[in-house]
Amino acid sequence: MSKMINLPSMICFRVTRFCNARCGFCLAPPDGGVHPPVAILKERIDWLFANEVKTIHFCGGEPTIHHQLHELIEYVHLQHGKSKLTTNGIALPDRLVRALYTTKTQVKVSLHGPAAHHNEVVGCDAYDKTVTTIHRLIAAGIFTSVQTTIVSGQLSVVDWAIQFCLDNGIKRISFLPFIPRGNGLGQRSKYELSAAERRTLHDLVKQKRHKLMSRIDIRLLDFNATPIHVVEPDGRLVLEKATEAMDELLYRIPEAQVSIQI
Ligand SMILES: C[S@@+](CC[C@H](N)C(=O)[O-])C[C@H]1O[C@@H](n2cnc3c(N)ncnc32)[C@H](O)[C@@H]1O
Ligand code: SF4
Repeated sequence: MSKMINLPSMICFRVTRFCNARCGFCLAPPDGGVHPPVAILKERIDWLFANEVKTIHFCGGEPTIHHQLHELIEYVHLQHGKSKLTTNGIALPDRLVRALYTTKTQVKVSLHGPAAHHNEVVGCDAYDKTVTTIHRLIAAGIFTSVQTTIVSGQLSVVDWAIQFCLDNGIKRISFLPFIPRGNGLGQRSKYELSAAERRTLHDLVKQKRHKLMSRIDIRLLDFNATPIHVVEPDGRLVLEKATEAMDELLYRIPEAQVSIQI
């Protein structure tokens, strides 16, 4: 396969838009589209590798609800690629844990704060399941970090989440300021940080990073500032920016096979 388009070395690969949670701010909610079969997803992975992508970052929707995610992760490694996974941690089958371990896949688990706040944000009683998943991943020897979305009025979550990581031996945490995409667009008045909150968050993260640098890697991933390349479940390759209106459709990954609905 010849190289057709310039891509970054890592790409966000949505295996589905379906999910077992209902986050009020979800930037990639169910869109009425397809849950693609594994053969089509493998073809897309081949195409990405042919275009010099090195790392497939599995995300969604909720990637763990794709029953063959373990097979896709193993496939990436058979093709000499690397994989990452971001998950809400609600359900993680044992076969997936084994695949994550054998392929040295790094996993980010989304945990948005103490139980009441987390459950309110994700729209279901997920906190205990997600924390149990974090413990299972760590016990299995898988590199596990925490990812926390910060919403208006909840900057105290920064301290809470860092302490959670320190208490559980987690060596990396990424904070995501809320962005108004997907469901989040209609929830701006509830979740969007004010300019003052954004500044405070940036300062707080910088200060904590400096103070705790020997114990934990603290990151701020601001998608308001940095566009990301995403492959959607329907095969569109999109450059995602702070809002959907600003997105760029870069390409449609060609495929010969037919997708199935669930
Ligand atoms: C779209 S989710 C997909 C993976 C998985 N379902 C999860 O929640 O971890 C990827 C990350 O984006 C975060 N996120 C979702 N909507 C967001 C928004 N509007 N602003 C900032 N972060 C958001 C989630 O909390 C999660 O950490
Ligand atoms: S942010 Fe993740 S867990 Fe929450 S609804 Fe969206 S896809 Fe599901």
